[in-house]
Amino acid sequence: MNVAYPQSTFDTDIAAIEGFSDLLRGGFENPEGITGLVRVTIPEYPAQSFIAHYATELHVERHDMSRVADTDVTIPIATIHRIFAEFETLDWRDPGIIGTITFTGNLALANHLAKSCVRPSNWALARFRKAGRQHAALGHRNLTTVEYLHRPTQRQILEAMAESRPIVVTGLEPTPPCRDWTLDRLVERFGDAIVRVRSATHRQTMADFVRELKEFEANPYDRMIEGFVKPYTEGATLPEAMGADFGPLFFDREDFIPPQLWMGAVPTHIPTSSLHRDPLTGFLFQVMGRKRLDLYSADQADLLYPMKAYNLYQPCWFKPEAPDYDRYPLAREAKCISVTLNPGELIIQPAGWFHQVYAQDSPNMSVSYFWRY
Ligand SMILES: [Fe+2]
Repeated sequence: MNVAYPQSTFDTDIAAIEGFSDLLRGGFENPEGITGLVRVTIPEYPAQSFIAHYATELHVERHDMSRVADTDVTIPIATIHRIFAEFETLDWRDPGIIGTITFTGNLALANHLAKSCVRPSNWALARFRKAGRQHAALGHRNLTTVEYLHRPTQRQILEAMAESRPIVVTGLEPTPPCRDWTLDRLVERFGDAIVRVRSATHRQTMADFVRELKEFEANPYDRMIEGFVKPYTEGATLPEAMGADFGPLFFDREDFIPPQLWMGAVPTHIPTSSLHRDPLTGFLFQVMGRKRLDLYSADQADLLYPMKAYNLYQPCWFKPEAPDYDRYPLAREAKCISVTLNPGELIIQPAGWFHQVYAQDSPNMSVSYFWRY
């Protein structure tokens, strides 16, 4: 289904607010049957405030605004305009967005509403369609293992990418080798490098980040509470100073979008990233600890219940770590390939493959970079 939203600018604020409620309605899905009322207040235009009423569909209501809502969201008009200007690339963690919005009450409802706001670009839709057709034609859902290539040539890598086959690359020899990297060594080499953790309110040096990480690691995970911000870089841009050691190991650096750092304390019993797919080919280089990836070919999209409102990546409603086959019965048929990445190994996941990632050791460190083409 094409859910691209046709309009990103509005002549008037009132039209933008009307467009915003349409955007929410159009992207809303409710397979889990969440119910509730969310009052959305635009402080500059109190008369345009509305209640989002969750049912099978989202009802936008403006009558009886005095009702007690489960959640109250206040969102300035400038942020609504910005959501439209950016919905194909919008990142809710951006402090310039999330920092302008206030929430009270049931935050799960607000979170659900936020998911409805984003839309894929036509480019992303086309990439997923193409991957689906190609994987079906090549029978990728019947693959049972990921091919390992020891010190492959660029040509071998390009051939695998052309057929949209995932591969694990071994025999990489960064200096020093990955098995020799420790937190202390990172601090020694890159202690002054700035890590811009997206959800953090301030910039941190690598030395400060590692100090926090060690303090956290000293506490058992069962003391974690919901909403606890764990010391985890969440895909922050890899500091420039670390590029020579951990940046792209093939092709030219310009062939990739800037590398991202996934480093920190991670629980090992739940996924570090839930089931989703990306429209670009991803390279994931494992530096510290191990990671397990579960991969599903793009032609199995119908079995995994991907969300219709997404932008830079497409998450799924189905959660393999807690499968609800009553709600998502087709997922029983889905076939997955599991692969464990050891330090020093790199996986190349062509665009469109669904994947879920588990850290098997904590602390854990990986660097990822997307191929531009
Ligand atoms: Fe991904």
